[in-house]
Amino acid sequence: MSVIRKCLFPAAGYGTRFLPATKAMPKEMLPIVTKPLIQYGVEEAMEAGITNMAIVTGRGKRALEDHFDISYELEHQIQGSDKENLLSETRDIMERCTFSYTRQVEMKGLGHAILVGGSLIGNEPFAVILADDYCVTEGDGVLTQMVKLYEQHQCSIVAIEEVPHDETYKYGVIEGAEESEGVYRLSNMVEKPAPEDAPSNLAIIGRYILTPDIFEIIQNTPPGKNGEMQITDALLAQAKEGRVIGYRFQGQRFDCGSVAGYIDATNFTYQKSGA
Ligand code: G1P
Repeated sequence: MSVIRKCLFPAAGYGTRFLPATKAMPKEMLPIVTKPLIQYGVEEAMEAGITNMAIVTGRGKRALEDHFDISYELEHQIQGSDKENLLSETRDIMERCTFSYTRQVEMKGLGHAILVGGSLIGNEPFAVILADDYCVTEGDGVLTQMVKLYEQHQCSIVAIEEVPHDETYKYGVIEGAEESEGVYRLSNMVEKPAPEDAPSNLAIIGRYILTPDIFEIIQNTPPGKNGEMQITDALLAQAKEGRVIGYRFQGQRFDCGSVAGYIDATNFTYQKSGA
């Protein structure tokens, strides 16, 4: 069993960039070809040895819970037909994992969403996946790579990648010393800096492993960018003590929080499937 047993999925956001598609449907249910984004995230967590999925939802997100549940009528309908195997991966997930849910009642930022999810995590290190960062790898999944690193370092880890300098305003941006190939000991982190204020062009993407002291730190961190509770600011407190690693992961990431990134991800995955 993995040292990391639980994965938190903040999934309460409105997904306004995808309106009207996300008017009555969570953005995490948008499919890449035929599989919803949240399922790719859950599969990545499972590959890393995690079976306890903790999802922070909000109003209008019931489809997420229904997705990881039995649909008797539908399954009865397709039983024995060639469609049955289309649900086999989802059934496998349901057999091997447990799902727990809590609601974020107010949208006060990613740090707040993680704090709300704390009741599902308790006092142990845990992973966080932002499902709209869709990651494709040749070998190990991104979270598997990070869990291996956690086993060596036992501190918080953020996945990072190089982004164009003029796009730093979209991300948490890091500064640190490269200790070994792709592994940085972080000294500074800034949430969504303008290019001229960015300490580097290494951006945090939606994969984290966090030590549980982060919950208390979030509570003691004042609101940051856009008046929201930022996980980047809370992590900075750990970074100042040398307790955060930035990991330049192996693989490719698509920003499915944007329409262009979502279309790229869809085209890439469709072509790869050879369908
Ligand atoms: C969040 C984080 C940001 C990170 C990004 C990765 O921002 O606040 O630090 O770089 O996720 O996707 P959001 O995309 O929710 O605005």
